[in-house]
Order: sequence, then C-alpha cells, then structure tokens
Amino acid sequence: MSSRVPPRFPADTTLELSPAEMERLARLALERIVAHVGSLPAQPAADTRGAAELSRALIEREPPETGAPAEELLDLLFDRAIPKSFNTASPGYLAYIPGGGLFQSAVADFIAAATNRYVGVFAAAPLLVQLETNVVRWFARLADFPETAGGFLSSGGSLANFSAIVAARRERLPEDFRSGVIYVSDQTHHCVAKAAVLAGFPPRNVREIASDGAFRLRPDLLTRAVAEDREKGLSPFLVVGSAGTVNTGAVDDLGALATFCRRESLWFHVDAAYGGFFLLTERGRRAMAGIEKADSIVLDPHKGLFLPYGTGCLLVRDAAVLRRAHAVEAEYLPGMQSDPDFVDFCEISPELSRGHRGLAVWLPLKLYGLGPFRRNLDEKLDLARWAAREIALLPGVEIVAEPQLSLLAFRFTRPGATEPELEAWNRRILDAVNARGRVHLTATTTKGSTLLRICVLSFRTHADRMEAALEDIAAASREAAAG
Ligand SMILES: Cc1ncc(COP(=O)(O)O)c(C=O)c1O
Repeated sequence: MSSRVPPRFPADTTLELSPAEMERLARLALERIVAHVGSLPAQPAADTRGAAELSRALIEREPPETGAPAEELLDLLFDRAIPKSFNTASPGYLAYIPGGGLFQSAVADFIAAATNRYVGVFAAAPLLVQLETNVVRWFARLADFPETAGGFLSSGGSLANFSAIVAARRERLPEDFRSGVIYVSDQTHHCVAKAAVLAGFPPRNVREIASDGAFRLRPDLLTRAVAEDREKGLSPFLVVGSAGTVNTGAVDDLGALATFCRRESLWFHVDAAYGGFFLLTERGRRAMAGIEKADSIVLDPHKGLFLPYGTGCLLVRDAAVLRRAHAVEAEYLPGMQSDPDFVDFCEISPELSRGHRGLAVWLPLKLYGLGPFRRNLDEKLDLARWAAREIALLPGVEIVAEPQLSLLAFRFTRPGATEPELEAWNRRILDAVNARGRVHLTATTTKGSTLLRICVLSFRTHADRMEAALEDIAAASREAAAG
C-alpha cells in the first residue's frame, strides 16, 4: 500500500545551507578575495609559465560523487588556478583591451545570483527589470540617441554585435537575404565577421574596406565598393564603423559614415565596444562625433566602465526594431508588456533565462554617479598621450598610431632591417618587457608590420604604473640593442 506521507529528504544531504554555514562559506571566499584584490599591485601582470602542465594535472574524467572541504577548493582557486593567468585585474595589464573588475559589481553579481530572480520577462521581477532598463536608457542618453531608442545588455561585445547584425538584416533585407552585403574596414574587430557568419551570411558577403594612414575606414573606397556591388545586383545594407579599434585604437570618421549611410539608405552600426564609454569625456565626444546618428551601437561595460567580464550592450535608435527582430510568442509565457515604459528582455534579445547582469552596472553607477567614471576615463586619455610622448623619445622608436583614445601602437626600427627581422626584434623587446612582470603588453600585425601596443583602460592603472611601463620598455630596448 502506498504511503500517505510524502517522502522525507534526509537532512544530511540537503543542498540548503543554514545561516551559519552561508556566512562561513561566504567569509572563507571573502577573506581570500579581499587578500587577492589587495595584493593586485604586487602581483605579476601576467603569469602563465608552466600553466599548460598545471592544467593537465587538473584534468578529471569523472565527476565527483562526494564532496570536498570548502577550504581545499577555495585554495585550489586562489593559490593555484587564479595566479596562473593574464592578470586582467592588475594595474599593469595594458594588453589587448583591458577590462576592470569593480568589486562593487562583484557584490551586485553575488546578490543577483543569491536571490536568483527571473529577469527575462518583466512580469517575473518588474522592479529589477526596471533597474536594468534604466541602465540601458542611461547608455542611450550617453550616445545622444532619441527617446525612441532601446536596447539590452548582452554577455559581451561579440554577442551584442551579433544581435545588431541580425536586427539590421531582419529590418533591411527580405527573408532570403543571401545577396545582402556588410561593409567593415580592415581594422574592424574580427567578432563582426564572425557575427555575420553566425547570422547566416557567407564570408564573401563581408566586404573589407581598406583603412587610411590613421587606420580609419576610407569613405571614398566604401562609396566605390557599394556602387560596384549594386551594379553586380547585390544588396548593400549595413556599414560597420569602429569607435576604437583593437589594433591601434582608431576611431572612424563616424559623421562621414553616417551621412553616407543615410544618403544610400544603409544601416549604420558602430562597434564602440572599446571606445564607447569615452563618450563620458569631452575628448571622447569630439573623437566620436557622429555616433549619435548611428542606427545601432555596441558598448562594452566590461571594458570602458571597468566591470568584471560578462556585460556588453546593444543600443538601437528605434527600439521597435529589436522587438520586430526577436519577438516570438509562446502560450506558456506570462503576458508581455505593451506599456512603452516597460520592457520584456526576452522580446528584444536572443535570451529567455538570463542572469540579472544589469545589477552589476546599476550598483556602481548608483553608488558613485558618473563623475568618478568620467575622471578615470579622462586620466586614461592623459596617460596614453603621456606614454606616446615618452616612448617617442626612445632611440629607434616609431609611433605608428598616436592615441586617438587610450591606445597607442609603436615599434622599434633598425636601419636596413627587413620586416621579418623587425618583427623578431620587436617581439624580443615585448617578451623582455613582459618578463619583468610589472606590465603586460601585446603586439599586433597590421598592414604588414608588427606593432607593440599599449592600451590604458583599467581603473587601477595610474601614473606610477605607466612610469614603470616606460622604464621597462626603455630597459628592454637597451638590452636588445646591446645584444
Ligand atoms: C572593438 C571591439 N569590438 C568587439 C570586441 C568583442 O567584445 P567581447 O570581447 O566583449 O565579446 C572587442 C574586444 O576586445 C573589441 O575590442
């Protein structure tokens, strides 16, 4: 006979923690986090020596059947795994596009995960959705977009660019969109070409336009390419401008591109994943003039707003476009919002279930207001200009890309050296700088030259670290010259 009593769960295997256990686990983690963050300035800017072998030692084929003590697991993370990385949270991290890692955002993420509310649909957590909607509206205002604008927070710039391409495709092309052509520059971030392929375009439909001596997309060549494609019966529909390229930090002439796109009825998208938040500064606004005329913009709070990785943003001039591109009905979902003040993120973005990533932006912005962010970004512009001036004084240096924002590119030259010799020479200097551990730089190869880059973007990078960078670059180049 079946029991009338529901099965009881054995108390010793519950996944629920008591208040004391919660506090203990959080305290164990917090102690380590605080010590880690506090020692960041003294940590190497990158340390991956021997990391492949150490990773191999971590391979586990079988999932654990029983648990291990929290201390043991946290020690694995903090003593072994975390230190063996590019130290992207370090003040000396000047590589690629530095991120940040605001602790305030980490606390917001903790709250979001611990309370685990559902923000994919408005009805499930209206006030929390509203806080995230506010963040997107603040960003739209920053870009001087009109009141009709809307957008959403994504996991990063790549997926935000992907959604921009899908939105433009659905808005401007028929169901059979295979003749649609997308225009980028030879400096556009590779995630745009990847997004185009993911959005269903064959790689041949992405037209790469050459950039000028300052690495900006050439409008004259764009004009010619669009006309030629139309003559071939293709359907130009989308131009992607860059507000800060990853190679050299170039900002395209956004005003000229916007005017061209309007005249030719093309969708104008701006990838401002790196540069966008410099709109908080006067100099950034001047450099990016014309961005307000775009149809869509990608910003990356996990770059220019110093957030931990995991937050990008797509803004569109007309919010209705996103709804038309994404809204699909299902009987089992609660009713969606028609009030223009309210947003269901599932109707304007690819995701349904999602983390409450807006909280990680909202909390630091509300705690501090924009002022400290603006001052931090202004400081990065100053530091990059200072570095360019100082590096230019080193013997044999050519500044190939002056900072248009906070990124510069340069190289050491030697009379009569071939390009492969210069590449080896510059990489040797790069390795010697990085081996010192105070800063971490990266190189890139563009237009046939290998360049060293410095990108200043972390809220932790200040004058002292930039002086250290200069000392180490000077010392490494002297050593290389001495053989
Ligand atoms: C200009 C630019 N666009 C897009 C991206 C891709 O952004 P994410 O890494 O957030 O996907 C980056 C990343 O560095 C970038 O610099």
